[in-house]
Amino acid sequence: MVKNALTYIIVAGARPNFMKVAPLVRELKKQKNIRTILVHTGQHYDPNLSDVFFKELDIPTPDENLEVGSGSHATQTGAIMIKFQDVIERYHPNLVIVAGDVNSTIACALTAAKLGVKVAHVEAGLRSGDWSMPEEINRVLTDRLSDYLFCTEESAMKNLRAEGIDAKKIFFVGNVMIDTLLRERANAEHSAILKTLGLQQGGYSVLTLHRASNVDQPDALKKLMETLDGAARTLPMIFPVHPRTRAALASAGIVLRHIQIVDPLGYRDFMKLISNARCVITDSGGIQEETTILGVPCLTLRNNTERPVTITHGTNRLVGTQLSAIKKALGEFTYTAGKEQHGKNKKWGKGSKKTHPRLWDGKASERIVRILGSRLG
Ligand code: UD1
Repeated sequence: MVKNALTYIIVAGARPNFMKVAPLVRELKKQKNIRTILVHTGQHYDPNLSDVFFKELDIPTPDENLEVGSGSHATQTGAIMIKFQDVIERYHPNLVIVAGDVNSTIACALTAAKLGVKVAHVEAGLRSGDWSMPEEINRVLTDRLSDYLFCTEESAMKNLRAEGIDAKKIFFVGNVMIDTLLRERANAEHSAILKTLGLQQGGYSVLTLHRASNVDQPDALKKLMETLDGAARTLPMIFPVHPRTRAALASAGIVLRHIQIVDPLGYRDFMKLISNARCVITDSGGIQEETTILGVPCLTLRNNTERPVTITHGTNRLVGTQLSAIKKALGEFTYTAGKEQHGKNKKWGKGSKKTHPRLWDGKASERIVRILGSRLG
């Protein structure tokens, strides 16, 4: 460490943050003039939502763990802010880096900005236009508070300019989540998950579901699960279930007859699982991007996406939440044992993959660290 080093705090809190901070921490640690402090807010704390990613992605043990745990939005956001203020006061950072759109992102950005510390937002500018999503509120506010806004796709730059953000603060750098995907692809190949679950390449689908709008209304969840369970009769469906969804299924008394529920998976097992799936059914943001690079058909159970490039350049399709539309879309992937192979679907998947979105090339974190270096010295 050289004298007069700069201190950057980088924040990770929830599962989708971990694969984003991994390449950034790695890149930052190469810089001799930067002291990197990794803060885990503890928003996600279950070993299979947190520790497994630190191990597999070689993320160093956090310097600080705020251990805030779960709670209402206000409880969780407030608890992070109170504890993060103390961290800032102890380390006096020159910069706080936040990623994505979770409660940890806005909580730490707001705390830093109010203390006069510069904020960098990785994955800035994405907009679903849906103000009922807590993540949309987190995105808009974090961007407003940020001094450096790093965008994954061109739509994000356009959104930020339309909101009046100074163009000098906006940088198109690519996608750090894809940095991790490209780096880990070979390791994921070694996962034994298909064998463990008794699956054949291309002979199953993968379901993930955790968004409040899909899981928090028991009646709607019941109907949705009945539809998906029906589709699982003809195409085996694996459902790594988020704890929030598991609790919602139990309290609504939903019993699945065909879908195979498994615990949340680590990074490599999950990548192996989705890359060999016939299709992925999801309401996640990041999985829309990962399937874009993997060329795997993605049926997104939402009416909007903040990641439009996954539709124009990828394999994503917005199926919405109407049961008839979901049934119809799933019907395109009906499995006939022994005959169907992964990627044979003519409309989606490997056969129809277009070029990758611009700058999704594994070098986003390098670009971010270079830009920060040239601005902060
Ligand atoms: C959060 C993010 C969401 C992201 C998702 C990825 C916000 C507003 N939402 O949603 O954008 O897509 O993470 O997973 O930040 N729980 C556990 N163990 C844990 C963490 C949570 O059991 O380690 C349970 C708790 O019952 C908790 C619930 O999951 O109340 C929800 O957790 P929370 O962090 O509030 O939101 P997520 O649904 O995980």
